[in-house]
Amino acid sequence: MRETGFASSNSFVSEGIRSVVRDIAPSQIREVAHLGMGRDDVVPLWFGEPDQPTPEFICRAAMDALAAGDTFYQPNAGIAPLRTALSDYMNGLYGTALLPDNVIVTVSGLNAIMVALQAVLGAGDHLVTTAPIWPNLVAIPRVLGASVTTVPLQADAKAGWQLDLQALFDACRPSTKVILLNTPNNPTGWMMSEGDQAKLVAFAEERGIWIIADEVYARLVYNGQDYAPSFVPFLREDRRIMVINSFSKAWAMTGWRLGWITASRAACIELEKLMEFNVSCPAGFIQQAGIVALREGEDFVATARACYARSRQVLVDRLSAMPRVMLPAADAAFYAFFHIDGVTDTLGFAKKLLGEQGIGLAPGEAFGPEGAGFIRACYAVSEDRIHQAMDGMERFLNTM
Ligand SMILES: Cc1ncc(COP(=O)(O)O)c(C=O)c1O
Repeated sequence: MRETGFASSNSFVSEGIRSVVRDIAPSQIREVAHLGMGRDDVVPLWFGEPDQPTPEFICRAAMDALAAGDTFYQPNAGIAPLRTALSDYMNGLYGTALLPDNVIVTVSGLNAIMVALQAVLGAGDHLVTTAPIWPNLVAIPRVLGASVTTVPLQADAKAGWQLDLQALFDACRPSTKVILLNTPNNPTGWMMSEGDQAKLVAFAEERGIWIIADEVYARLVYNGQDYAPSFVPFLREDRRIMVINSFSKAWAMTGWRLGWITASRAACIELEKLMEFNVSCPAGFIQQAGIVALREGEDFVATARACYARSRQVLVDRLSAMPRVMLPAADAAFYAFFHIDGVTDTLGFAKKLLGEQGIGLAPGEAFGPEGAGFIRACYAVSEDRIHQAMDGMERFLNTM
């Protein structure tokens, strides 16, 4: 007999799916967002993206490329002019001498992370990272069959988030293949200092451990610098380092899905093969837009950063004036990750705040158990929106 529908789930089918996949919990950020999406009375600060669309000159480049017939498959590692533009961009920023061959263009930062980890991590391997952490960074290694140890960042209101580097070293075992760092960090805004980077590179090199650095927030720093300390200058042909980056955050291109990996040429040759099996290639017309973003986008990056800096100041001032709130200082990314005295169930808090005041925040537990008791707000939005959100939060806290 023919089945007429798929209404009920089938345990025979779901049990055929690998348990590491079945065990992935649904995103708590989405759990909150689903309750509020589609409502036009909500101030959404839950996701990590600017509230402004991609600048027109970047969109125009994609439209021109499409009009010119750029609709075909492209090379696995990305088109040569974009690989050149990327190596030029990084050499200009960091004073390095990278070649286009040191770059693999990917379909987003997330695809870059997947491909980088596929290349070096398999079943039974071990990965060490910090926490709280963007959940995808621990889910991907687990999907690949690896185990993960998280080393907690410590929160201090004045000193900000701190990493005990020795604790990171102590977490490594003989099976550790990768130390994965997200710096600048989502959700905390923590950045690893250049001094600690140098110590980590020496440690990892001695042990043969890969450093994979997720630097998608590299340009979003508010300490007067133009970029965060990066692992790119530490790259050498004989070093096991891969650096992940993306067009999403600095150029307001989250929906375009364009990113890149910087690594030694030997690594890039292998990563190129994996691009074929994952996505074949990023779309050609999107890569054309990426070239224009790099070559003509510096004013935009500076202007956007200045806007986020103003919104950040408003958020910091407003949160600091709330007696029950503790906000560890942080100079990067575009999130405030704060603690509210007496609030332990932040998922429940976020849902209630949304229901009663129309304010959309992300619960800290979404970033691992180390995020319990904290709440994340993205400040890549106008100052007005921040004021609106903080007015609502103040009203809500007064009723608690
Ligand atoms: C730490 C971190 N890495 C990577 C990404 C992925 O960025 P994308 O896939 O949009 O390039 C994000 C997005 O939120 C992020 O927060």
